[in-house]
Amino acid sequence: MSLYHHPTYLLKALAEREQNGILRKLTCTFPEIDFCSNDYLGFSKLGLLDSKIHAQITEQDADGKPMGFGATGSRLVSGNSRIIEETEKQIAFFHHAESALIFNSGYDANVGLLSSVPQKNDLILYDEMIHASIYDGIRLSHSTHYKFAHNDMENLSELIQRHRKDFENIYVVAESVYSLDGDSAPLLELVEICQDFKNIFLIVDEAHGIGVFGKQGRGLCNALSIEKKIFARIYTYGKAMGCHGAAIVGSDILRNYLINFSRTFIYTTALPYYSIEAIKHSYQLLIETNQKDLLQNNIAYFYTKAASIKSIVKSQSGIHAIQLGSNDLVDKLDRELKSINVHARIMKSPMIKQGKERIRFSIHAFNTKAEIDSLIDCLSRFSK
Ligand SMILES: Cc1ncc(COP(=O)(O)O)c(C=O)c1O
Repeated sequence: MSLYHHPTYLLKALAEREQNGILRKLTCTFPEIDFCSNDYLGFSKLGLLDSKIHAQITEQDADGKPMGFGATGSRLVSGNSRIIEETEKQIAFFHHAESALIFNSGYDANVGLLSSVPQKNDLILYDEMIHASIYDGIRLSHSTHYKFAHNDMENLSELIQRHRKDFENIYVVAESVYSLDGDSAPLLELVEICQDFKNIFLIVDEAHGIGVFGKQGRGLCNALSIEKKIFARIYTYGKAMGCHGAAIVGSDILRNYLINFSRTFIYTTALPYYSIEAIKHSYQLLIETNQKDLLQNNIAYFYTKAASIKSIVKSQSGIHAIQLGSNDLVDKLDRELKSINVHARIMKSPMIKQGKERIRFSIHAFNTKAEIDSLIDCLSRFSK
């Protein structure tokens, strides 16, 4: 019994989830074999960032500020430093853009961008599979918004044709890698469709693309040589980069606008110094290590072994999924995976569409061949 008094809805909603077997719970104990985390390159798990950061954490900023554990204020108040600005310049240079602006997380970056840039007379067209952070940003904006069917360029073109006369600007939002199945947006087609019209602006979330695709892990836009054609790119640092935070990369004008109008940038304490150091060093690791090649080798190995498993959604990214089609089967496979000490992510309805229930697993640079073999062994028993 709780000592607190609650609105009945809270109790009802939790009881419903419990009854349907979909109550989310925090846990601190995980099976040992990691096919679940977003640490694709192992920068975090292998401790590759730790030693680099420890060495610098006690130093003083060039402005004489102590490098403490708190930024002490928002970037516009007391939380800015030369180190953040230098890191942003390096990020912009690495991603072949004019500017970069660091946000406290990918969630903040997407909400801050989508809620501040599109205006009342504008239209946002977004892929139906976009991440919750993009959707939440869209909901906060005053613009009109419609979704297009996943990766369906005909549907997108039709929506553009139908609506373009009614709006001042159109923003098209996609992800370089979608986090449910690990498939990619057809970015070349998207660019082609958008460049036929004036006042259409493309926004690409590279959360799962950075570190995995492109030269030295610059992302899918880099691999396809379309970086300059994208109005805003979002790179997040909590996945392959093994740390935390995000940057929106684009023009000087976009950066300046976000500093002035993006509420998730303005009204929050800046990232602490050690987070900025971590971001800086993770870019260094992208350049200095061959973790990306190890990841790609493991993905290739996985598919040579998984060729006969039809229900696996093929992907070249770190994310892969097996479609099972019911919550019962998801639970059953989850139990089997746990029994061999494998940690993967379950996705049940109604969080995702009924019939599309699946288990998602991430392949990492550090997974051993034996680990991949045991995963395949287990999945093949569920293969259709
Ligand atoms: C596509 C995508 N964008 C943004 C985010 C949010 O990033 P962060 O974890 O840095 O808040 C995620 C995280 O799951 C994501 O998958």
